[in-house]
Amino acid sequence: MPKNKKYQPSSEILKQAYVKDYERLYKESIQDPEKFWGKIAQELEWFRPWKKVLKWKPPFAQWFIKGKCNIVHNALDRHIRAGLGNKLALIWEGQDGQERKFTYQELSDEVCKLANGLKNLGVKKGDRVNIYLPRLPEQIISMLACAKIGAIHSVVYCGFSIEALRTRILDAKAKIVITADGYHYREKLIETKKIVDQAVEKIKSVKHVIVVKRTGNKVKLKAKRDVYYDELIKGVSNQCQTEEMDSEDPLYILYTSGTTGMPKGVLHVHGGYMVGIYITLKWIFNIQKDDIWWCTADPGWVTGHSYITYAPFICGLTQFFYEGPPLYPDPGKWWSLIAKYKVTKFYTTPTAIRASMRFGDDWPKKYNLDSLRILGTVGEPINPEAWRWYHQYIGQSRCPIMDTWWQTETGMHMISPLPSMSLKPGSAAKPFFGVVAEIVDKDGKVKEANQGGFLVIKTPWPAMLRTLYKNKRRYKKVYWQEIPGVYFTGDAAKKDKDGYFWIEGRTDDVLKVSGYRFGTAELESAFVSHPAVVEAAVIGRPHKIKGQAIKAFVILKQGFKASPELEKELKDHIKKEIGPIAKPEEIEFVDSLPKTRSGKIMRRVLKAKDSGKPVGDTSTLED
Ligand code: WTA
Repeated sequence: MPKNKKYQPSSEILKQAYVKDYERLYKESIQDPEKFWGKIAQELEWFRPWKKVLKWKPPFAQWFIKGKCNIVHNALDRHIRAGLGNKLALIWEGQDGQERKFTYQELSDEVCKLANGLKNLGVKKGDRVNIYLPRLPEQIISMLACAKIGAIHSVVYCGFSIEALRTRILDAKAKIVITADGYHYREKLIETKKIVDQAVEKIKSVKHVIVVKRTGNKVKLKAKRDVYYDELIKGVSNQCQTEEMDSEDPLYILYTSGTTGMPKGVLHVHGGYMVGIYITLKWIFNIQKDDIWWCTADPGWVTGHSYITYAPFICGLTQFFYEGPPLYPDPGKWWSLIAKYKVTKFYTTPTAIRASMRFGDDWPKKYNLDSLRILGTVGEPINPEAWRWYHQYIGQSRCPIMDTWWQTETGMHMISPLPSMSLKPGSAAKPFFGVVAEIVDKDGKVKEANQGGFLVIKTPWPAMLRTLYKNKRRYKKVYWQEIPGVYFTGDAAKKDKDGYFWIEGRTDDVLKVSGYRFGTAELESAFVSHPAVVEAAVIGRPHKIKGQAIKAFVILKQGFKASPELEKELKDHIKKEIGPIAKPEEIEFVDSLPKTRSGKIMRRVLKAKDSGKPVGDTSTLED
């Protein structure tokens, strides 16, 4: 096969495609974005129409001004009113094989019950609710219940540990934490309730902890504070009015790693967000009434927010949601689930694909994957080799792959192919409608084709973050002042002569390990919180499966000696502080770190040294 072979859509895919002429519609959409987005927004229901589509006072955007809506109305109520109450909304399977199914009506009933339960605990519009749950239906239900009554959810991935959870609860001043008695990760019991108990200790804002029973594992309930989920909703009405929200009212805070130790609270709102995620899912995955959608992400991350909890329901889809991890109990598990539930659209990460590839093509070949129509990836660049494997063995050389580039901050897919486009393995193709993406240098000067540079977005889009929670200054600085006047993505990329984008990875101090996002500063401050460590510097080192792995350089305090035991202890410390997903691959003990004269660690130098490459310009290096 020629290396740069392009993949053309089949006639069947073309026939179904919502968008057949990308170039024409794209041009129209950026000539008059308000007209484009206004038209899309009309496909959804509003309690009161907006007066104006966009108010742009850089860097602050408001969309659908004075419009009244609620994302849950569009995800649930709207379909039930249209007579789709009996359509399956959610099929969940546990790691243990247990199955639970919800029609739109049943899902709405559960959401209403919890919404009423939350109200009974004193939750009001604008209050923050922290959700620290494994992949259970209750995770989705909790998010929807908050949104329904206008509370702001802050979901924390349950692979995070005590400290990471604590800082997030503190920053949001959450009133409620929803967690589980525990869950099984492979064979291991993870005691989420215990983690929450330690995390909320001394946090005054937390009035109640709600506990979902998952394992039956005995947990201690603190009197007056803690309540079991099933008891909270027992006998509670399954009717609950969906709160009328302003388009710009906050929907959620999602913390994501940045360049300082404190994670950034990315803030999303009801109106523009629901419009952006709805149309990207519908057009990029060519959503049809009979589709079975499976996104393997966790609602603890943005992919799960946008493309599990909200957009699939807004599109009226049936979705499959799986509790367990990939490759367990064997590398065929996911493929067996696609066959069992006849999944038609499958959305996963390059890391998962590379990890599966390692076990060969016999595993997918065991199962009937004929139901699949379109595949997707997200979270990190996909290497062409993994792309081709995914295309050939999962997509059976007939399903196009949508390599969707976006971020927690963008809320929705920003650069992606459409099913009707020709595909180049490894390229995320072209900007979505209304999105103006460009490759520029540090001063904002546009780069020529095939010249690497910074990926920026030049104009606002409806699902964009509105600010960082309680930190407008940081919002301005991080996203809009790095390169004057444009949204700085933090990614390096290039654009080829056909206008296809090739994302190369982060240029800032953010790592992508198995698609999970970590800030070097967050990891470094976790190291320094160990009594043996004076200073630490963390870099991402290329990794065949995970994309990047964490390597740390550590300076020890006087009196501590480098040893394999200490290395292990430090790795465990990071696991405890941040979570098992942040466990460093290697720790190197050093006597000094390369720094600029102003004291900034030069990670570039460490990276070059680590990979045996030339160090480059070191004129600013102090030592
Ligand atoms: C990276 C995940 C290449 C990128 C939705 C971005 C990608 C960061 C892709 C955001 C892709 C995401 N190709 N790189 N298709 N999708 N990225 O906030 O570096 O967890 O800036 O959002 O992931 O990560 P986040």
